[in-house]
Amino acid sequence: VVLAVGSFAAYVAWSFAQASVDTIGEVDFDRPLAIPPLAASTVDAQGVRTFDLSMQAGESDLGRGAPTPTWGFNGSFLGPTLRATRGEQVRVNVANRLDETSTVHWHGMHLPAAMDGGPHQPIAPGARWSPHWQVDQPAATLWYHPHPHGETAKHVYRGLAGMFIVDDEREIALPKVYGVDDIPVLVQDKAFDGSKLDDTHGLFQSAGILGDTVLVNGTPGPFLDVTTERVRLRVLNGSNARVYRFHFDDNRAYAVVATDGGLLPAPVEARELLLSPGERAEIVVDVRPGDRTVLRSTPPFIESNRFTGDKDRLDILELRGASTLRPSPALPATLAPAPDLADDTVGATRQISLGGSNTNFGKMDLERVDVVSRLDTTEAWDVTNSDGQVHNFHIHDLQFQVIRYAGGPPPAVLAGWKDTILIAPNESVELRMRFTDFADAESPYMFHCHLLRHEDQGLMGQFVVARPGEQVGTIQVPDPVD
Ligand code: C2O
Ligand code: CU
Repeated sequence: VVLAVGSFAAYVAWSFAQASVDTIGEVDFDRPLAIPPLAASTVDAQGVRTFDLSMQAGESDLGRGAPTPTWGFNGSFLGPTLRATRGEQVRVNVANRLDETSTVHWHGMHLPAAMDGGPHQPIAPGARWSPHWQVDQPAATLWYHPHPHGETAKHVYRGLAGMFIVDDEREIALPKVYGVDDIPVLVQDKAFDGSKLDDTHGLFQSAGILGDTVLVNGTPGPFLDVTTERVRLRVLNGSNARVYRFHFDDNRAYAVVATDGGLLPAPVEARELLLSPGERAEIVVDVRPGDRTVLRSTPPFIESNRFTGDKDRLDILELRGASTLRPSPALPATLAPAPDLADDTVGATRQISLGGSNTNFGKMDLERVDVVSRLDTTEAWDVTNSDGQVHNFHIHDLQFQVIRYAGGPPPAVLAGWKDTILIAPNESVELRMRFTDFADAESPYMFHCHLLRHEDQGLMGQFVVARPGEQVGTIQVPDPVD
């Protein structure tokens, strides 16, 4: 099933200056891809599923000959994959065994602001935090990572990140055996100083670090032995600053079946796909017996008006087909209901501009609420990248629908629910979002650029969801018009 690809040209053909793009040579694919373990959990008599996460320091072999200091959840680098089914009550006991205050944010999750794990829920060294909520959203690949005020780049970069897979009851014929034909692919670029993970230099320059080594699930130079005819890759760009243009070295087509908020309306055939930091996509790749193919990224940038070209590619992951492959289900023609906010009555239209280290509200201020949204209202947000740099836009708590992208209808890969979206320099996107379930005038959620350096610099704002008639600071929430 191949859908028309809307303004795909606009989606990929950007020209903008970017701090130097690294040239990366050939990678020896000599290590098996690590698969993060599924997190253990217990279910109590009330049906609450409880996970334990411990934020800790350790040492990791990241392929530089000697171990390097890193951070991780329940280990020395990255974290286990949490998994829960729609409708379940979950609780996560988070223990901070670091010597710095941090937080854990559930990126993409619809949940009360007090459970969100943003900068308003700090966990002091030695302390515990136990958020709990009911999972209530379609099946999706979400993730978790720290979100401490001004320190997110460093905490994520050192290794604090993991996936959170939400399942639902719908039976969809996609590869689904975790670690066999359904594979987490957490992609991060890293820089090293000798054998040591360099968490100083680039972290604090312009957009943030652009490393010359790509790790997948923490593995440098990884290969994956594929034993089935089709493999589903849950790709998460967990990098601080890098935008990837994912494609295979033989230019094979693959099917994009899901993005941030879950399954697309239908599979979209693609040969390349842009993912900016924080974005996810699930792709299904056909593999032949004995196949070898390399997932690559060629930067989508034009640098100083010159296409950086193939020499700047990053080799990411080699897929190796076994000599005989077990059969996989045929791709379904349709996957999930399409987002349905386009015809809603719009309760508020907002202009958000991202530029420098500010939004149009100013620099992030934990004491300032920038937007008050009325519960059970659909809003239109026009988000503009106003300063010619690379930015994206991420909002907590909800998934939005893309109405317009860079002046045109969204390309098919942006036809599903999203929580993070890349915005080309001097371009705008028009989003629709609905604020439901969790009114709490006291607890702000965040929206921000997910290039972590920009976020830390203050390119972030706060919104609260309030009931009609409520007063939030100086803002009186209007009663519904209809
Ligand atoms: Cu993944 Cu506010 O972040
Ligand atoms: Cu930015």
